[in-house]
Amino acid sequence: MDTAVLTASTARYAKAIEASKKVRWDIDKDVIRGRSFDLTKKFMPDKLAQIERFGLTNADERKFMSQIQGRTYSNIFGLVERYIGAKMMEITRGHALGDQVVVESLVRFTDEELKHQELFRRLETMMAPAMPKGYAFMPQPNDVANAVLSKSTWAVLGLTCHIELFTLDHYRQSIDRDTEVSALWKDVFLFHMKEESQHAVLDEMEWQREDARITSAQRDQGVTDLIDLVGAVDGLLQMQATADADYFMTASPRKLSAAEAQKLRAAFLKAYRWQYIVSGAQNERFLQILGAMLSPAQLERVVAALKPIMEDALNA
Ligand SMILES: [Fe+2]
Ligand SMILES: [Fe+2]
Repeated sequence: MDTAVLTASTARYAKAIEASKKVRWDIDKDVIRGRSFDLTKKFMPDKLAQIERFGLTNADERKFMSQIQGRTYSNIFGLVERYIGAKMMEITRGHALGDQVVVESLVRFTDEELKHQELFRRLETMMAPAMPKGYAFMPQPNDVANAVLSKSTWAVLGLTCHIELFTLDHYRQSIDRDTEVSALWKDVFLFHMKEESQHAVLDEMEWQREDARITSAQRDQGVTDLIDLVGAVDGLLQMQATADADYFMTASPRKLSAAEAQKLRAAFLKAYRWQYIVSGAQNERFLQILGAMLSPAQLERVVAALKPIMEDALNA
């Protein structure tokens, strides 16, 4: 560090570097440790899977449901980390000749997201042969990344901050508390969360920095873009909810009626909307950061756009 006096903001970036060094982990040595997935165990915890809304009474079906959702959960992170890593590289470039502490914190962030993508690709190769055939993860990382990255930086950072904050909530409020989930699956999200804790802080600072830089017209466009991005995420969730419901029905010995199949697809969508949109939109920190940036009219636009998704996800 070549400056004697750290500004308050540089100190927060320096703290993120320190924490990142302290928690740094290796995929094989620390996380996988030669283990494979135990298919007698659940993956996704009951609370996060919203298992009760599926009305399943058979223990094997409940477990299979949690494994399908747990596999998709892992694939969703691998998916979004493609665009997050690419965006962080772009943002880092903007700092390249500036504060080198900021540059280092963001380089570490990108490096960690590359590692996380590798981890989630590994998990898919371990889950695929262990689970029944027929699972399909629909969205393509580069298609999604190209669509997200076409939006304004303010909106992309907003979406990213939302994702990284709900990652922490999911671990602390559900994954850590369910004693019946696969030890390997749980460890993956424990180690992931340890690095995401720093990402959430860096997202917040970079988002606020961008917010301070732009004009009010650009912020208004940012709000439009953020609403579009939430709509795009919802589109992906609709596609994956249908694919996962179909997989459940194909692999399960019980034949569902057309009405039951319809209910199953709807329950998957509600659960996924809660996991990937609503839980983050209810995160207090996220609401504080967003609330401090927006005018009442802009906040109202966001609330109105979220309303149908929130209502669907929160109702029985
Ligand atoms: Fe990550
Ligand atoms: Fe992250």
